[in-house]
Formats: sequence, C-alpha cells, structure tokens
Amino acid sequence: MKITVRIWRQKNAEAKGTMVSYELDEVDENMSFLEMLDVLNEKLTLEGEEPVAFDSDCREGICGSCGVVINGEAHGPEVTTTCQLHMRTFKDGDVLDIEPWRAGAFPVIKDLVVDRGAFDRIIAAGGYITAPTGSAPEANSTPVPKEDADRAFEAATCISCGACVAACPNGSAMLFTAAKVAHLGLLPQGQPERDSRVINMIEQHDAEGFGSCTNIGECTAACPKGIPLDVISRLNRDLMGALAKP
Ligand code: SF4
Ligand code: FES
Repeated sequence: MKITVRIWRQKNAEAKGTMVSYELDEVDENMSFLEMLDVLNEKLTLEGEEPVAFDSDCREGICGSCGVVINGEAHGPEVTTTCQLHMRTFKDGDVLDIEPWRAGAFPVIKDLVVDRGAFDRIIAAGGYITAPTGSAPEANSTPVPKEDADRAFEAATCISCGACVAACPNGSAMLFTAAKVAHLGLLPQGQPERDSRVINMIEQHDAEGFGSCTNIGECTAACPKGIPLDVISRLNRDLMGALAKP
C-alpha cells in the first residue's frame, strides 16, 4: 500500500512543533502500526534525517507505553492499543495524521512522546496496600465474593496508557484513577487505606492539572481495555463516603 503519514515533529519540550508529511510506498497490510513507523524511521535514518521519536515496549498491548492519536482518535480507529493496530485497518492511498496525546498534564517531550509521570504520581498517592504480602497465601484463605473479584480484575486490566485522557474533551484522568481505586477498593486487602486512597489520589489528580469528569464517556469508548464508565460512579461514592467521615 502507499500511505502518506503526517506526523507531529517537535525537537524537545520547549520547541514549537509542526506536522511533517512523509510518503511510504511499500506498506504491508500485515505490519503493525509501530512496524510501519519502524520502516519510516529506517528510511529517515538512511537519508540522514532524525527518526521519529515514539514510545513502545511490549508491543503486545500490555505495558501501555505506545499511545498516539491517529486521525483524531486515541490509538486509532480500532478499540486496541497502537501496537496492536495493524495496517490492514487502512487502505491504499490513505493519509494518516499522527499526533502525541494532547493534554496539559501530559507535556510533549519529543515528537510523539509525552511525559505521563502524572500517572505515576497519582499511583504513588494511593495505589498500594499496606497489608504484609509475604509469600503466596493459600488461595481460599481470604474469600472474595465472585462479583467483587471479577470487577476488581476488570479494573486491574487498566494498562495506564492515557488514551482516556487524550480522548476526554476535559483532559480528565478520572477513568484511570477510578480503575485504580476500584481495583484495590473492591478487595479485602485494600480496605485499610480505602478512604485515604480515594482522597489522596483525587487530590493528586487535580494537582496534576487533569480536568473534571462531566460524564461524556469518550474515555471508555477509547479505552483499549474496556474499562467501564461506572468505575467513576464508584469512585464518587467512595469519595463522598470518605469525606463524610469525621
Ligand atoms: S482506563 Fe483505559 S484508556 Fe485509561 S489509562 Fe487505563 S487502559 Fe488506558
Ligand atoms: S507497546 Fe506495550 S501496550 Fe503497546
């Protein structure tokens, strides 16, 4: 396939960025989206140009490091991670606009790479338990209702990619934060810090400059792991309950 990519190029955090157009003549439909960028970078390197900086690690949809906006959609037109998107999604002659996540709390470092350190600081504010973990306990020693176990597992599938923030018109990270709060708050091991966790994580969320949730739902539509919107209702209930306590 012949594909034209228009990519956000920005030398560093301070530089002014701009879209730059590149033509690729031999894109295989079986390539992943990142492999297509690898081919472009090889071409740029051979031509003596600076390759496009982008994040990736696992390339298996697990680590959450690879997100970019493709034609205005976080992770592109499929509900998956950028690394799991394949070029067969597109057709010969397509023009693809590729940009970094756009959110005040995710400043661009270079080209398509943004600083998602704000997520790490939200996790550090409350995404942990203090119960001694020790060696693996006997599986049935702490019974967890099936429904709670399933919901905690569902929330735990959040890979911290940031697509929810990139898709949200408010630049809110409520889906991410709510997934982390639900993941631990639904389990017995997470109960001792349940109140402080939700208060501290929301305080950090707001301090990082993420916007408020107004129930638009773009976050859950863009989420490659299908984190449902109702984790945010759960977070709000937990927060109200925690703040109401003396
Ligand atoms: S909630 Fe979904 S979109 Fe947001 S960081 Fe987690 S996996 Fe990514
Ligand atoms: S590179 Fe790890 S999720 Fe895409």
